[in-house]
Amino acid sequence: MKALVLSGGAGTRLRPFSYSMPKQLIPIVNKPVLEHVLDNIRDLGVKEIGVIVGDRAAQIAAVIGDGSRLGVRVTYIPQDAPRGLAHTVAIARDFLGDDDFVMYLGDNMLHDGITAIAEEFAVGRPAAQIVVHPVPDPRQFGVAELAADGSVVRLVEKPQEPRSDLALIGVYFFTPAIHAAVAAIEPSARGELEITDAIQLLVEQGATVKASQYHGYWADTGRVDDVLECNRKLLDGLTRRVEGEVDSASELVGAVVVEAGARVVGSRIEGPAVIGVGSLVEDSHIGPHTSIGRDCVLRSTRLEYSITLDGATVTEVRGLHGSLIGRSASVGPAAGAGQHRLVVGDHTRVEVAA
Ligand code: TTP
Repeated sequence: MKALVLSGGAGTRLRPFSYSMPKQLIPIVNKPVLEHVLDNIRDLGVKEIGVIVGDRAAQIAAVIGDGSRLGVRVTYIPQDAPRGLAHTVAIARDFLGDDDFVMYLGDNMLHDGITAIAEEFAVGRPAAQIVVHPVPDPRQFGVAELAADGSVVRLVEKPQEPRSDLALIGVYFFTPAIHAAVAAIEPSARGELEITDAIQLLVEQGATVKASQYHGYWADTGRVDDVLECNRKLLDGLTRRVEGEVDSASELVGAVVVEAGARVVGSRIEGPAVIGVGSLVEDSHIGPHTSIGRDCVLRSTRLEYSITLDGATVTEVRGLHGSLIGRSASVGPAAGAGQHRLVVGDHTRVEVAA
């Protein structure tokens, strides 16, 4: 069995971050989403992983390399433009050969792992096995209609009147039967080769297509609010580890990680929270549910339920909540009382107290 991880795409919903970085490198508890994905795949015993990359290929390669650090072997497969999930299967044809494979969206977090689902696939070897998860509003998802034995009767993209609450989430298992189906479909109305169309074709041809329900925590980290919420959820499983320096005037409460080379001075860190390698937190109150990346500086600041990416600086700002602060971004006090001065990039969202 091989794996195909999708790490291209446009990432429009995660602007402005996706202007300068691939969304799959957004950190959740200071580890890129893509690394969480590769860890889950390695836990299946799968070592050969093809990673689809778009125009941010170099940044992904700089972080993931050949995969050996994570115990896997990575082959990069460039995609010229986001032409759809089924298009990625077509361009990975040589890499995949005649092996079974798991296709995994590189921005999806299935925190509780997929080993049980992989075992189900290995036993029955249906032509395709999709993974579904109940969602409150299935109208924004691909929705599966299932027979009593768990086989898929129909897949419908974003139905107005969903016949079940089971959304397709970002993991699919395939035998090589998928390749003929991918070759036979045409681009959809939005111009993409849709994997749901290829799977639906298999259903129509009488092939066995199964669905497995994933019962654990799932998040698609495609939007800022999802990133923060996913970070909160994973931080809840944190255990305390202090490798950096914490002075006697500081207080750590609950599950706090202070990574190597980080310094906490005269501050209160309320767990769960992570202070990244080389960061400085001074005269501040950080957390709960906050991740500070590498080499950040936080001074006289109150920050909770937030993430700062590497190299960010926050000085003398109190009351920051639900914030995602980009790499080397700087947030500080205004020169005049009662004033706000904003230097804000394209497609950025700022909310200022009235
Ligand atoms: P999406 O999140 O559906 O698409 P996107 O990345 O273009 O995001 P947005 O809707 O915000 O513009 O893609 C799911 C995953 O698959 C994501 O990790 C990107 C990846 N992908 C590819 O690698 N190639 C593709 O052609 C497409 C459509 C997605």
